[in-house]
Amino acid sequence: MAENNILWHNHEVTKSAREKLLNQKPCILWFTGLSGSGKSTVANAVEFELYKRGRKTFLLDGDNVRHGLNKDLGFSENDRVENIRRIGEVSKLFVDSGLIVLTAFISPFKSDRQIAKSLVKYDEFIEIFIDTPLAVCETRDPKGLYKRARDGAIKNFTGIDSPYEPPKEPQIHIKTDECSVDECVDKIIAHLIKFGFIKGNDNDYAI
Ligand code: ADX
Repeated sequence: MAENNILWHNHEVTKSAREKLLNQKPCILWFTGLSGSGKSTVANAVEFELYKRGRKTFLLDGDNVRHGLNKDLGFSENDRVENIRRIGEVSKLFVDSGLIVLTAFISPFKSDRQIAKSLVKYDEFIEIFIDTPLAVCETRDPKGLYKRARDGAIKNFTGIDSPYEPPKEPQIHIKTDECSVDECVDKIIAHLIKFGFIKGNDNDYAI
């Protein structure tokens, strides 16, 4: 008996039954990198490619999730930790449901990414480092946030006055200033095929 009187309920439809039904191995493609590094762009393009191949996916994106589930959170260290904790838990549920989950969050702290990783099986967590130098992100500044952070109008901005801890050994390392979005997508799809998450011979059929 659990201490808090809450017990785990086993379900008839198991994760492996869902895998069979969907004909794919679920996983989390965890994109991490600075604001403006290209996480959302690449994740979105990868999801579209998977969709065209008939694979079932879901993309969780920082800017969008912060409008709903995480709208009570800001950018203090504690709030970022809680942001990533919730995303880790939601991603785990989606993995249990059989989906290929893509997450695009700065997720600046190594320990939080480690916790998210620990929630699923070892090979189900694929860390993708969108490695774009701060200077490039700042030049792109698609939302004008770096300028505002430099002007002091936004506090705790990652890369400016809040730290980013780069992954040491990401499964996939992407340098967006050295390759096109299509090349980034190819690299990630090739990884998914190589490690058996999807098959290489999926036909384009959705579009
Ligand atoms: S995380 O650090 O908690 O993982 P998350 O990915 O959810 O961040 O949100 C980052 C997005 O919020 C950025 O792309 C940017 O548009 C916006 N943002 C607003 N304030 C900040 C800030 N202080 N630091 C970083 N991003 C911010």
